[in-house]
Amino acid sequence: LTGHTALDYGFVNTSATKSAITYIDGDAGILRYRGYPIEQLAKNSSYLEVAWLLLYGELPSAGELTDFDERIRRHTLLHEDLKRFFSALPHTAHPMSVLSSAVSALSTYYEHQSDPHNPEHVELNNIRMLAKLPVIAAYAHKKSVGQAFLYPDNSLSFVDNFLKLNFGVLSEEYQVSPVMSRALERLLILHEDHEQNASTSTVRLVGSTGANQFSSISAGINALYGPLHGGANEAVLAMLARIRDSGESVQRFVERVKNKEDGVKLMGFGHRVYKNYDPRAKLVKESADEVLTELGIQDPLLDLAKQLEEIALGDDYFMERKLYPNVDFYTGVIYKAMGFPTRMFTVLFAIGRLPGWLAQWREAVNDPQTKIGRPQQLYIGAAERNYPGAQ
Ligand code: SDX
Repeated sequence: LTGHTALDYGFVNTSATKSAITYIDGDAGILRYRGYPIEQLAKNSSYLEVAWLLLYGELPSAGELTDFDERIRRHTLLHEDLKRFFSALPHTAHPMSVLSSAVSALSTYYEHQSDPHNPEHVELNNIRMLAKLPVIAAYAHKKSVGQAFLYPDNSLSFVDNFLKLNFGVLSEEYQVSPVMSRALERLLILHEDHEQNASTSTVRLVGSTGANQFSSISAGINALYGPLHGGANEAVLAMLARIRDSGESVQRFVERVKNKEDGVKLMGFGHRVYKNYDPRAKLVKESADEVLTELGIQDPLLDLAKQLEEIALGDDYFMERKLYPNVDFYTGVIYKAMGFPTRMFTVLFAIGRLPGWLAQWREAVNDPQTKIGRPQQLYIGAAERNYPGAQ
């Protein structure tokens, strides 16, 4: 290894594993889950149907999907002690911190059924995670706005139950908006897996040590939190709001990005793998127009985002560096239109990504060739030397 060029800090040229779950062609902007194009799944499937596909490799039969859905509905309740766990955290806590802490705490209720090599335990905990993560997420939201937690309504679909847990209140009936339900279903599908991104690699690495699903997923949630990863959807909204409130022209902001003033980045742009338009971003942008129109919302931030995209895609600086909108660029505008606080955006990403994390964890743990993750390093520190006075 000579110098740092041989190093691969970002695993850019390192295949850490083999996987049969998701295929990405970054140059062509292709994304397929178990061979199915993301465009077809996003428009025709459901979050739970895609979750089954990612976990088991084939689309479920109608009976399998109904049974899967039923089992998840019957596991939505959290232990009452776990609900009290939330009161130990400050109401100002970021929902992503609440999510990862509560998932770690969740594992304490199932230590007797968390053997990664017991298929029954693994399948049961897939169901528990899929059923309970949305409830934990909604409780993190309710805690941040000081409202009472609701109980899950098992007569509702996965997405409708989640919307009601977030926006329903004890004092009145809650009617789920079909527009929001359809849009959220599509957004969740678009996030379900993305091969070896940072949070999924984290889940696989933690799983490779023999840790259970809850601990591995909690680690994945923490990795996703970073603004260069899932936290970018929250950072995009902050960036758009700052441009709007500063009165700075979009062109001037873009110049500051190009001059790298104060390390400013065009959040929601660029990708480790896509060196073309992220296929998910295209679908999200379509949804943004539909949802805001159907909800009758005019949001200047959407116009601002489109302006930013138009300027960047016409600018050599971004094109030479192959910087295009990624999945995070437009999602926040839709989540905001639905009524989610900005700090809940990455929590929504985590719910979307959960099936992929579980499928990738299961694939790693079931692979007899999986060894404990242990990357190499190039040592560049001090040569051997003696402690003063030591012989
Ligand atoms: C996700 O991996 C996945 O699959 C992740 C994800 C998933 O589904 O799991 O797709 C989800 O994390 C999407 C990415 C969300 N992050 C952001 O939107 C944050 C903003 N983007 C950047 O931080 C950046 O683009 C990365 C981290 C996403 C990718 O970085 P790369 O590909 O390693 O690029 P780089 O850091 O090596 O930069 C190459 C050049 C540099 O310029 P020069 O030094 O050559 O002059 O491009 C520039 C960078 O400064 N650059 C940007 C930029 N991203 C890269 N300049 C301005 N704005 C940006 N957003």
